[in-house]
Amino acid sequence: MKVAIVTGASSGIGRSAAVQIAKRGTGVILTYGNNRQGGLETAAAIEKDGGTAVALPLDVGEAGTFAAFRDTVAGVLRDTWQRDTFDYLVNNAGFAQTSLIQDTCPWWPTAGPSSTRAATRQRQPAWSPATRSTGR
Ligand SMILES: NC(=O)c1ccc[n+]([C@@H]2O[C@H](COP(=O)([O-])OP(=O)(O)OC[C@H]3O[C@@H](n4cnc5c(N)ncnc54)[C@H](OP(=O)(O)O)[C@@H]3O)[C@@H](O)[C@H]2O)c1
Repeated sequence: MKVAIVTGASSGIGRSAAVQIAKRGTGVILTYGNNRQGGLETAAAIEKDGGTAVALPLDVGEAGTFAAFRDTVAGVLRDTWQRDTFDYLVNNAGFAQTSLIQDTCPWWPTAGPSSTRAATRQRQPAWSPATRSTGR
């Protein structure tokens, strides 16, 4: 049996990906962050349909935990699927934030459309190919 790792599978896209991958006959190691219950529910949904899933905690913002996570994954692969590799990674865990352009872009004009155009013209030289590579 092939095995996939799906990060951030306690809800949303990751949960859906984990369930759909399992329905196609692939074993799933799925991870959750704060929502342990959600991770367990995803694993239960997979097992209810006859699939195999193991839910593990993983904070993708804490690189210091990655070595221990790798060791845990190696143990799960060995104990559950009698193998030491996996086949697919769905690197999904994360979150989105939205904000207004003027809150993230220091030079964005706060006045109306004509000043927007003026400011855009003013900025164009800074986006020429010669300066693009420097990020200025
Ligand atoms: N939905 C959209 O329209 C959209 C658009 C563009 C990109 N995306 C990206 O697609 C991915 C999934 O989005 P979604 O809508 O399905 O969001 P979601 O339902 O909020 O699911 C996010 C998943 O990522 C996990 N997660 C978040 N931060 C984490 C961290 N630091 N460490 C470990 N796990 C973490 C969450 O785990 P816990 O809840 O267990 O903490 C959850 O399982 C995200 O990366 C998002 O940025 C989504």
